[in-house]
Amino acid sequence: MSEIIKNMSDTLVRLQVELTEIVQNANDLQMLEQAKVTALGKKGRITDLMKTLGAMDPEERKSTGQALNVLKDEIAGLISRQEEALKRQAMDEKLAREIIDITLSVRPERKGHIHPISQTMEELATIFADMGFRIAEGPEIEDDWHNFTALNFPPGHPAREMQDTFFLPEDTGAQGEFAKKLLRTHTSPVQIRHMKANKPPIRIIAMGRTYRSDYDMTHTPMFHQIEGLVIDEKTHMGHLKGCLRDFCEAYFEVDDLPMRFRPSFFPFVEPGAEVDIGCSRKDGGLKIGKGESWLEILGCGMVHPNVLKNCGIDPEQYQGFAFGMGIERIAMLKYGIPDLRTFFDSDARWLDYYGFDPLQRPNRAFSES
Ligand code: PHE
Repeated sequence: MSEIIKNMSDTLVRLQVELTEIVQNANDLQMLEQAKVTALGKKGRITDLMKTLGAMDPEERKSTGQALNVLKDEIAGLISRQEEALKRQAMDEKLAREIIDITLSVRPERKGHIHPISQTMEELATIFADMGFRIAEGPEIEDDWHNFTALNFPPGHPAREMQDTFFLPEDTGAQGEFAKKLLRTHTSPVQIRHMKANKPPIRIIAMGRTYRSDYDMTHTPMFHQIEGLVIDEKTHMGHLKGCLRDFCEAYFEVDDLPMRFRPSFFPFVEPGAEVDIGCSRKDGGLKIGKGESWLEILGCGMVHPNVLKNCGIDPEQYQGFAFGMGIERIAMLKYGIPDLRTFFDSDARWLDYYGFDPLQRPNRAFSES
């Protein structure tokens, strides 16, 4: 080996040791970048040596060139491994720094609450889902046909009058009863929409906002209802009673709850009934269960043949029941809330008192029994 080549290979060995050390000592990404520039950059140590190749004789140039390339690849590999290690280390440190204890409540003094209406709707959905009901929906802006006519309201029925119903300007695009728009006064039009779009067997509940022009301790212009509808070939009044009994006992969490079905009139059911549950009043307080008093909680009945016909369902073949309840009302009864209007005051102190812990699960009494 010529003297020059021997010198060069010593130089390369020293350079390899030196650069390896620089790279391995780089303990953050910035230092590593600096090491990269020193080793491989345009003015770096390896490039500098590359530039001397031109002045060498061919044999020397060939062996030195190859050795430099090997060194270059080796250092580049070392740098990229070091880079990966540093990135991993940085990520681990970041994760350790940003650890969050999700078992701690964020700001206990500022904890938000679930509104009693949301809570009650969760409970209702849970109980009825366990009984095999699906959830159906419909619009809050309805037309006269779905809200009244299809539900067998006779033309002059008082509920259609202006004092109860919020009417909207007529829709110029629609015709006849579909042109007359209103805010739905109950969730019963969802029955109609569902029966028109689906074939029996049907087993649904519908929950949501309803509107009537009324305002006092037990009435607000906007309130919530839940509607139930079951249609098949065999369902009868006995099923209706059983279903509502199971529901009331699960919801109010009372066994052997006294219930009373009183004949009543709704145009869309025949026979129709109102349901009362037993309660007792002591020292201004109200307790649901066996007692000397009764509370009306819902309307129900067997779906009127005219309603089935209006939805294209043959009343000779199909039958079933429907029920409707005010959600605020049953929330007030279960949770002892005296004034309906307070539900919609958006008073944070009220919500702190009557609201629910977000982590509390809805009522599972029915499914666990
Ligand atoms: N829609 C009725 C109301 O708002 C309640 C009801 C529903 C009655 C279904 C019978 C059957 O008062």
